[in-house]
Amino acid sequence: MGGVLGCLLTAWIIYNVLVVIGRLYLSPLSKIPGPRLAAATPWYETFVDLWYNNFPDALADMHKKYGPIVRPTPWEVSINDPDYYNEVYVTAGKRRTNYDAGSRSGLGMQDAIAITKDHDTHELRRKPVANFFSRPNVTRVESRISDEVRLLDAKLCRLKGTGSILSLDHAFTAYAGDIVVQFTCAEHPRLLDGPDFTPQWHKSICGDLNVVPLFRHIGWLSNLARFVPVGLLRALNPEVAGFRLFTLVGEGQIDKIKKGVAREDEKEGLEKKQSVFHDILRSDLPTSSLITYFVLADPEVKKRLEEELKDITAGFPEVVPRWAELEKLPYLQACIKEGLRINRFFRRNPRISPDPECWIGDYDPRMSRNFVPFTKGSRNCLGMNLGWAELYVCLAALFRPGGHNMSLAGTDESDIVPIFDGDVGAPKRGSKGFNVRFD
Ligand code: HEM
Repeated sequence: MGGVLGCLLTAWIIYNVLVVIGRLYLSPLSKIPGPRLAAATPWYETFVDLWYNNFPDALADMHKKYGPIVRPTPWEVSINDPDYYNEVYVTAGKRRTNYDAGSRSGLGMQDAIAITKDHDTHELRRKPVANFFSRPNVTRVESRISDEVRLLDAKLCRLKGTGSILSLDHAFTAYAGDIVVQFTCAEHPRLLDGPDFTPQWHKSICGDLNVVPLFRHIGWLSNLARFVPVGLLRALNPEVAGFRLFTLVGEGQIDKIKKGVAREDEKEGLEKKQSVFHDILRSDLPTSSLITYFVLADPEVKKRLEEELKDITAGFPEVVPRWAELEKLPYLQACIKEGLRINRFFRRNPRISPDPECWIGDYDPRMSRNFVPFTKGSRNCLGMNLGWAELYVCLAALFRPGGHNMSLAGTDESDIVPIFDGDVGAPKRGSKGFNVRFD
């Protein structure tokens, strides 16, 4: 018995040594610079990701040390060169893009559009919903966004003069959740209606983001979690349980929708009930918290934004300004662009230093070229139009003159900055949240 085990162990060691030699010397990527350990084993990325939660930072350090092209894992090449961006992120007309779900495949969402590997299958899944997320369709159903903004605003108005401190990130997550679920599942979860904007929803999303790195690297864990009853899972690890519950809800929704579609067959728009439930995780709006934070942190920015919004929001709440009108406002547009830009790139900056001014007037055209918060090409963000519309309408209501007397309440940059790579950026573990006082 001992002899058999010894043989197996020896064979396993020899196999792994050969694999590492292959990766280091025979792989087509063997000449790409980068740490040898990262080229030899994916456990390098796993360790940095799970232990320090900062693989994007480690990657930036690799680029600093080895140059614009590095090999961060045995199978990947990372290119840090804005001039090359449009060569990589292309539409199907230029090149078909297969996607290596790699570490994301452990999330147990193989059917989600975003992690569909094969180009043709991805196109097949994306095409029917693409129209649904198009600008004309989002504009057509914009009244749903207006209704949610009215509801959000009315609840905030009730806090006027009370000195109450509210976790505004809970409110934003509820707002985004209500809109996305309505849009994708044709159901209304009424998260904004709940007491304190249903904080459980925000907590569940944050808990899900926390377990993403674990499932990303140790894929069999998420498969295992599928067989464990949610109650037991909750006792063992509430965050994993939350993730499982979220997936179950998503699957339940999809089943319901499939049955609904089978019954109703062909109807237009929302009635078509296409679902991208798993993409709710992506659609949460850390950008709203970030923009609101930097506007509140700088009285000059706030004053200028309020002045610009004065006329267009004069009829609010009876008349909610339209997305198409709001995006013509240069300063509001600049604030949103700055939020999206910083949200994606600021994790290595010691302080948030947003400057909406940099988007006004004659600015360097390279800024527009490098502005890709939704990425480009055949796999760019499907919900981009919905994301823009949600941001414009919500921020206009929030910063209309005479609207809300808000100030930051014990929240600092470190509570907002997304430094945690849960597939979607999230603030540090233990963040106090985005707390705002209403006077
Ligand atoms: C400000 C808000 C948003 C931002 C900044 C954002 C950003 C992104 C980015 C960067 C990607 C590409 C991810 C990657 O390649 O790994 C993406 C993909 C995606 N996003 Fe968004 N997103 C936002 C809102 C939304 C919304 C509201 C939805 C839908 C309800 C959505 C649905 C999707 C989907 C389905 C994909 C995958 C597309 C594909 O693979 O074909 N996003 N998003």
